Amino acid sequence: MSLLYSFIILMLIFFMLEAPILIQAQSKKNSLVSAIFIFGDSTADPGNNNYISTPFKSNFSPYGKDFLNHVPTGRFTNGMLANDFIARYVGVKEYVPPYLDQSLSIEELKTGVSFASAATGFDPLTPKISNVISLSKQIEYFKEYQEKMKAAIGKEQTQNLIKEALFIISAGTNDFVVNYNTLPIRSKSYTLSTYTDFLLQHVQLFLQKLVDQGARRIGMVGLPPMGCLPIVITLHSDDAFSKRNCVEFYSSIARDYNSKLQNKLNGVQIKFANLGSRFAYLDIYGPLMDMIVGHKYDFEKANYGCCGTGLVEGAFLCNPSSYVCKNASKYVFWDSIHPTEKTYYLISQTFQPTIDSITK
Ligand SMILES: *[C@@H]1O[C@H](CO)[C@@H](O)[C@H](O)[C@H]1NC(C)=O
Repeated sequence: MSLLYSFIILMLIFFMLEAPILIQAQSKKNSLVSAIFIFGDSTADPGNNNYISTPFKSNFSPYGKDFLNHVPTGRFTNGMLANDFIARYVGVKEYVPPYLDQSLSIEELKTGVSFASAATGFDPLTPKISNVISLSKQIEYFKEYQEKMKAAIGKEQTQNLIKEALFIISAGTNDFVVNYNTLPIRSKSYTLSTYTDFLLQHVQLFLQKLVDQGARRIGMVGLPPMGCLPIVITLHSDDAFSKRNCVEFYSSIARDYNSKLQNKLNGVQIKFANLGSRFAYLDIYGPLMDMIVGHKYDFEKANYGCCGTGLVEGAFLCNPSSYVCKNASKYVFWDSIHPTEKTYYLISQTFQPTIDSITK
């Protein structure tokens, strides 16, 4: 009797002591990241291309079919992007808005924006082909953003905000798929291997500029298995109209790039270690392969997009008159280039441990 009594007392004391600590720990986790900043291509663009003159837009149905209120925001998918899920995970906001939206409040700007632009790439020639925003212009916008914030909340606060922010960069596919392997310009003067090195020099330059601008926690997404993009299968596979297997050649380019990218990031990590910068490689290749061929997840279709025939549609080819599959969650790809929200959600989950490693 007295033993049970003291046990209860002890438990009460334990909870009285522990409960506030637990609550504190939870809110501390959220406050570890001040904001999220995104750079890159359509895998990261929440609608910046709505504000520029380019055919590479997606602010019309059926894009956004499964977004909040079914709004076609300009995200190249049926719902949210991986970065929206990451923003939620680190506790800064629900959706990452496009920087070029002039109606964003200071409060909204303060927790981060995306500068990404669909169809861009690291090669300065790639955004010129599609008339979209280059990576160096995205950095310019980031500088402009900082000036705006300094005027609104002060210099020191802005610097701290940037220091504690999470940066995610996702680009590179268009450099190979739209540029190198389609146009005869770069392929005339570079081999695949030297072109990969050329891109990675631009990656390094970009990271240098980002660090110069105060970025300290940087996650860099690698390339997906490009040979498994439905459009690449359609255009480059021998069995495009039967089995539709992935095109190994294109995926091997991605693997080669990814391994060189990881070396590059290790080098950059050493170079900027004295600044307290942390760089992480975010692997999208492995998780996507698991979804496409691994049967680890319960997708029904991986080699067709949900929109239209699923063979070639993307941007204006996936439009209000396109057939749309009933349930996009059963598809890895939404159109013939871009993942579904379900795929982005699963990818964002696999990123979590790596994101923890640079933000904690
Ligand atoms: C869509 O498919 C997913 C995955 O198979 C399933 O969990 C979900 O219930 C489906 N939704 C509808 C409305 O049928």
